[in-house]
Formats: sequence, C-alpha cells, structure tokens
Amino acid sequence: MTPPVLLDIDGLRVSVGGRPVLRDVSLQVRSGEIAGLVGESGAGKTMAGRAVLGLLPDAARVLSGEIRFDGTDLLSLKARAREALLGRDIALIPQNPMTALNPVARIGTQIVDGLRMHLGLDRNGARARAVELLQAVHLPDPESLLRRFPHELSGGMRQRVLIASAFSCRPRLVIADEPTTALDVTVQKQCLRLIRELQRQHATAVLFVTHDLGVVAKLCDSVAVMHGGRILEFRSGDDIFRAPRHPYTRALLAATPRFDRPGDTLVPVSAEVLARLQEEVDVYDAAH
Ligand SMILES: Nc1ncnc2c1ncn2[C@@H]1O[C@H](COP(=O)(O)OP(=O)(O)O)[C@@H](O)[C@H]1O
Ligand SMILES: [Mg+2]
Repeated sequence: MTPPVLLDIDGLRVSVGGRPVLRDVSLQVRSGEIAGLVGESGAGKTMAGRAVLGLLPDAARVLSGEIRFDGTDLLSLKARAREALLGRDIALIPQNPMTALNPVARIGTQIVDGLRMHLGLDRNGARARAVELLQAVHLPDPESLLRRFPHELSGGMRQRVLIASAFSCRPRLVIADEPTTALDVTVQKQCLRLIRELQRQHATAVLFVTHDLGVVAKLCDSVAVMHGGRILEFRSGDDIFRAPRHPYTRALLAATPRFDRPGDTLVPVSAEVLARLQEEVDVYDAAH
C-alpha cells in the first residue's frame, strides 16, 4: 500500500531580490519514505528545503504555492506554531558539519538544549537521552563526548552528532541537505548508512537533497530532478533509473559514475541540453 503524503509542495514560486529561484516547484514526500531532490549546483535544491523549514533568506519572496505538512499549510502558519513544529516534527541535517554546530558550546549543551525545549525533558532526563542518541549513531564513549567542543571532533563525528540531533525529537520529516558532501568517501558511506538505519528504525520521512545521482540510486523511494528552479521529472526511484524520461535526467545519468558499471565512460551534460533548458526557463519567466 502506498503511504500517505506527508509533505506536499505544490506550485511553489519563490524569488530572491526579484530574481526567480523556484519556478512552480511541486513534489511530495510520503510518510516513512525517502524522496531524493537531485540537481546540479544552483538548481534551487537548498532554497526548496529552506522554504519548507521557513528559513528562506530575508530578500526571498514566496510568490505563490503551498507547502502542506500533514495537511497544514506551513506558509500560512503563525511564527510560534511554525517554531513549535520545526526541530520537533521537521528537522534538518545541514550540509556543513563544520559550521552547523556552535563552536563555543559543548556538544552536550547543544543536544540537551534542543531536547529540553522540544520535548520538555528536565536536565537529567535530557542528558540521559543525549547519551542514548550518541550511542544510536555509534559514537564511542558518549559521556565524555558530551563534555567536548565541536573542534575536538573529526568532520565525520560532527556529522554523526548532527544526525543524532536531527533524529533526537523523533521528527516525522527530516530534510537532509547534501549531508555528506563535505565528507570523504568512506565517512560519506558510513553517514548514509546511518541515516538509512535511523530512518527505517523510526519510519521517518526524508527529503534527501544531493547533486549526486549515485547516492540517490541506493537510497530513495522517489526522485525529483531539478534544474533552473524547476522540477523536470518526479518519479519512483526505480523508474528514474530504468526509464528516465527527461533529456536532462538521461544526460545527468550519463554523467554519473555507476557502482555496477565501473568501466563506463562518463559524458558531461551537453551544451545542447542545457541551452534547451535555458530556453524553457526564458519562456516560463516571460509568462510570469
Ligand atoms: N542567500 C541567497 N541570496 C540570493 N540568492 C541566492 C541565495 N542563495 C542562493 N541563491 C540563488 O538561488 C539559486 C538557487 O540556489 P540554491 O538553492 O542554493 O541551489 P542548490 O542548493 O541547488 O545548489 C541560485 O541561483 C543561487 O545563486
Ligand atoms: Mg544547496
């Protein structure tokens, strides 16, 4: 049976400083499923994720569209209701584990504060829960880790802490914005496995943002391919890989290394495909 839609982005148009960055973006994430949002740098992936989290830059304007979370339109929520939802029901795993943690606060303080605020736990309860969380992401000696500062941890450990924080309040949706891009390949794989493990354990829905189709291939139930602020194709993960429809998706696949076909020659996305996309964007912008 298909799980119900949890996050429904519908016809979202956003501009920054008068420049369109999201052009009629529509995509859904179903309960307990992983949806991939894939595209090259500048496609608008981070903007889409930030729109859901209510973290668009000040200069951004939502021109039209809706973002429904379990039926509630996030864009029309009052600030307080939205804040209550964020961090608790919807959490973020950010791209850069170096800058996402507060450098002058101990790891323990950062996790414990979130648990106290969102779950109303007392200090001891929150501390005990923090230890469990660090254990769940396979970090050794969690008690002593809680007393350390971010700079004392490796990039991979910091990302584990952020993954633990994101899942700490048992959110229903996690937005992972290129969560492994800043890490080396081995650590990347460990972090992906970990996200998968926690996602399955808690049946969390995940919007997984990445420029790497190879990552999405193994992870996602459905995939949205994005370019120029537009969703070009949104289909089941299997379909995207077996029978890509959009020329850009096909080009992107041909440009992505495949684990199952290591000898393949990779072909970069052609100027012709990109020129065609730009034409479509120009037509779209002229009409809006
Ligand atoms: N803070 C910002 N202010 C203005 N424009 C931005 C800002 N961040 C991103 N943009 C622009 O919005 C578009 C989409 O960017 P982004 O969502 O970051 O792409 P992606 O995450 O897919 O690489 C790009 O054209 C980018 O230049
Ligand atoms: Mg981005």
